[in-house]
Amino acid sequence: MKCTKIVWLSLCVVLACSRQAGTSVGSCPEVEARVDKLLSQMTLAEKIGQMNQVSAGGDVAHYAEALRKGQIGSILNEVDPDKINEFQRLAVEESRLGIPLLVGRDVIHGFHTIFPIPLGLAATFDPALAEQGARVAAVEATAQGVRWTFSPMLDIARDPRWGRIAEGSGEDPFLDARMAEAMVRGYQGSVLDSTSMAACIKHFVGYGAAEGGRDYNSTYITERELRNVYLPPFEAAVKAGALTLMTSFNDNDGVPSTGNRFILRDILRDEWGFDGMVVTDWNSMGEMISHGFGTDRKDVAEKAANAGVDMDMMTFGFLSHLEELVKGGAVKEKTIDDAVRNILRVKCLLGLFEHPYTDAGAAKAVQYAPDHLAAAQKSAEESAILLKNSGVLPLRDGARILVTGPLADAPHDQLGTWVFDGEKEHSVTPLKALEARFPDRIDYVQGLQYSRQKRERFDDVTAAARRADVVLAFLGEEAILSGEAHSLADLNLKGSQSELLAALKAVGKPVVAVVMAGRPLTIERDLANCDALLYAFHPGTMGGPALAALLSGDVNPSGKAPVTFLRTAGQAPLYYNHHMTGRPYNGETLLDDIGLEAGQTSLGNTSYYLDYGAYPLFPFGFGLSYTSFAYSDLALDKETYGVEDTIRVRFTLSNTGAREGTEVVQLYVRDLVGSVTRPVKELKAFRRETLQAGESRTIELSLPVSELAFYGLDMVKKVEPGDFQLWVAGDSASGEPLSFKVK
Ligand code: BGC
Repeated sequence: MKCTKIVWLSLCVVLACSRQAGTSVGSCPEVEARVDKLLSQMTLAEKIGQMNQVSAGGDVAHYAEALRKGQIGSILNEVDPDKINEFQRLAVEESRLGIPLLVGRDVIHGFHTIFPIPLGLAATFDPALAEQGARVAAVEATAQGVRWTFSPMLDIARDPRWGRIAEGSGEDPFLDARMAEAMVRGYQGSVLDSTSMAACIKHFVGYGAAEGGRDYNSTYITERELRNVYLPPFEAAVKAGALTLMTSFNDNDGVPSTGNRFILRDILRDEWGFDGMVVTDWNSMGEMISHGFGTDRKDVAEKAANAGVDMDMMTFGFLSHLEELVKGGAVKEKTIDDAVRNILRVKCLLGLFEHPYTDAGAAKAVQYAPDHLAAAQKSAEESAILLKNSGVLPLRDGARILVTGPLADAPHDQLGTWVFDGEKEHSVTPLKALEARFPDRIDYVQGLQYSRQKRERFDDVTAAARRADVVLAFLGEEAILSGEAHSLADLNLKGSQSELLAALKAVGKPVVAVVMAGRPLTIERDLANCDALLYAFHPGTMGGPALAALLSGDVNPSGKAPVTFLRTAGQAPLYYNHHMTGRPYNGETLLDDIGLEAGQTSLGNTSYYLDYGAYPLFPFGFGLSYTSFAYSDLALDKETYGVEDTIRVRFTLSNTGAREGTEVVQLYVRDLVGSVTRPVKELKAFRRETLQAGESRTIELSLPVSELAFYGLDMVKKVEPGDFQLWVAGDSASGEPLSFKVK
């Protein structure tokens, strides 16, 4: 087989792909003409073959016959470039029409070079960095022949019990949307070329609202909530040019997404004009039988096709039944043609017809390239959130440091969930990085071998702590405790980690906890047993150097919580942008204030928990720095705006501490009265600002009034005139509001 190094840009690709964000993917006549021509040559069986995706798993011989017959449009789970080329060769050179395969993979937070988990990336509030990370992933994956990633995951997640909270950008639609656009741009590139990997925005839709945080569970999201909260990140990603979309496993209000015409046709196609490709999640078509939404595979294949699914991942429902369904009139051939057009369009735009093969010999050279590792390290540095610091950080020069804990030297676990191709041999652990940064000053006693381990006594660790000046305890979750199908009911540190921390605190030396986890764990009791706490999520390949840089003070922490940190799992779901009840919380009776045999009362009581009150441990947007920031002189350019206007907010940001630092400035708005109730706060803008010690800067943020639009009582998106409040602050719970009107 001849594999040429791909350096190309075909004419139609240049035309189609120099498109501006917001134009549809099929807006290039050359691409459409080519797709139509091909479609006119295809038999019904060949069309249906394009709608079938299989998990290859290295077995070329097993699929050879199906490939020759044109029964497979896409494969997933094959990353060996030689095998990918062989799969492609069978499709391109031995099938009648020679249509190349779309080769997909879950490249979720890096391919070989692993970046922080997406939730950690969201804590950077740095879309440009997320774009860079996605680009790195695309360069590495496409070099091996993978041209389609099942990422980014855009599911709003307000319940940290859900294991897949790790895979998304957290609880806020605005932050999620900005990260979504950035990642789509990063994966696909500004112009589609050989390093472009089609993005797949998932899981459409509502999957993150699984009841009780139990994966795959039902959701009950009203249309208004869907439109105001869950859909905006998807719409933003579609506008940014995302080529593909994946349906979700859940049923919403009784309708599984894979059979949901309202979301797949009415909203996605008709309202947003999406003409990329829709793939199911793994067997989510088949799962509609378990849901009780279809009797058998034929029935669910019909429902999925008619609802608007283009490609079937691993149910084989289309392959087995579509022909019969078309012949019997249950599915129109036009429906099949539209689906195949969507698939061929993506293949054409990616240039697969011109260059189906990858240069297997060159693939290795780009993996773990120095600039990729540098980008991964920077992402890990920006993603860590300093949640507490009573002055022990940054570490003092010359201190003797005890490193301990199950995550200090856990090269596999620091990579986090959904890592198929990153190898732990390339991970630089905190222990290794600290030994390099502080030669001869590190003592290491593991304490616990893994996060779930239970131990009664920690004499070896506490003895070492006595010899040290400061203790660094690396705690958290093993990678496997978050991610798909890994929901938890209890969000405390597992095993004896809290006991280890308490034993260390009892020694009396300063203790720094570093938590590496896939979700915001409930760490309230642990906060009391440490002098500083840095929350690093699972930071990826370069987590060690990033954490060493942060702990030593070479880099100043700047991460901010992309999700609310709960005090206890029983508070879930608790998120900053909730609606107000008729009885706003104002700090009332807690459990111990209730007298014995107290009479029944509800008057005056409000919405909160008797045992935990109403507030979280840390609000959305929260994160400390080694310096401090002050906001002053906040002012709006007007008191009243028209719906076409842009609000300009000015303020002074001052670095009031002794060293340079970066603050994530956040702008929140509240619409006081609406045709329906509105969230108490909504993030509407953010920006990272780096200031020298003592520096003050006047900053102006602009907010088009149109950004205040929402779906009200009439389910039409518009700005409702009235009174608003606006905050600019370093987190969602700080700052004093300004008032303005929209008329
Ligand atoms: C997950 C998807 C993933 C797919 C393919 C499913 O189990 O829900 O997110 O892309 O598998 O691996």
